[in-house]
Amino acid sequence: MELTREYISKLEQSSLEDILRSVSETFPGKVVFSSSLGQEDQVITDAIFRNHLPVKIFSIDTGRLFNETYELLDKTVARYKQPIQVFFPEARDVEEFALTKGINSFYESVDNRKECCHIRKVKPLNRALSGAKVWVTGLRNEQSANRRNMPLIEWDENRQLYKLNPLINWTYHEVMDYINRYNVPYNQLHDKGFISIGCASCTRAIEAGEDARAGRWWWESSQKECGLHLSVKQ
Ligand code: ADX
Ligand code: SF4
Repeated sequence: MELTREYISKLEQSSLEDILRSVSETFPGKVVFSSSLGQEDQVITDAIFRNHLPVKIFSIDTGRLFNETYELLDKTVARYKQPIQVFFPEARDVEEFALTKGINSFYESVDNRKECCHIRKVKPLNRALSGAKVWVTGLRNEQSANRRNMPLIEWDENRQLYKLNPLINWTYHEVMDYINRYNVPYNQLHDKGFISIGCASCTRAIEAGEDARAGRWWWESSQKECGLHLSVKQ
C-alpha cells in the first residue's frame, strides 16, 4: 500500500503518540520498532507501552553490549510489564569471524569493522524486520551530518518497507525533557558522558564540544555508520 502525500503531511503535523497510532492503524500488526535502548529509543518505547499501541518492540543483542544496557533492558521490561524481543547474531557467523579475522579485529580495518557490524547487527535486524511493513527507528536529523536530510517517513527500497523516524525533528533537549517529564528509565552511561551508545568495545564517552557520535568507532576517521541505515550515506 502506498501512502499519499496528504497522509504524510498529516503525520508531519502530529504528535509522537498520534504518529505511532495512525501508522499502526494503517498497517495493523505490521509495525515494528527497533530499540537500541538509547535515550531516543526509550522515548518511543514509553509512547508505545504507556499508550498500549500495537507496535512490536525488539532489540538486537550484538553480544558486545555494555552491562548498563542489559540492566536497562531488564528495568524497562519490568517497568512497563510488556515484552521487548531480543534478536541475536547467528553463532556460526560470529565463530567464523572470530576464527578467521580475530574476535577484536574490527579495530584493524574498516572492512573488518563493517563485517562485524554486518554479522552482529545487520543480519539480525533483517531477520527481525521480516514480514514488517513499517520499521520505526529513533533517528534524529541533529545526530550527524549523514542524518541531516532524513525525512519523517520514507520508502526503503532495499527492505521493501516504510522506515518511520518519529523523532526526526526532535532536539536533544526535547528528548531529555520527555525523559524527565515521564520519568522514563534511561542508560546510566548517559550520566557518564556517553551520548550515542552501541557496543562496549566500540563506544567511548565524549568530551564537551565533541560531536554526539564522536564516541562511536572513535579510532576511525570514516563515516560513523554501521550499515543498519542503508539510506544514510556510508
Ligand atoms: S547505529 O547505526 O549507529 O548503531 P544508533 O545507535 O545511532 O545507530 O541508533 C539509531 C537507530 O538504529 C536506533 O534508534 C534504533 O532504531 C536502531 N538501532 C541501533 N542499534 C540497535 C540495536 N542494537 N537494536 C535495535 N535497534 C538498534
Ligand atoms: Fe562489532 Fe563493534 Fe560493530 Fe559491535 S559496533 S558489531 S563490536 S564492529
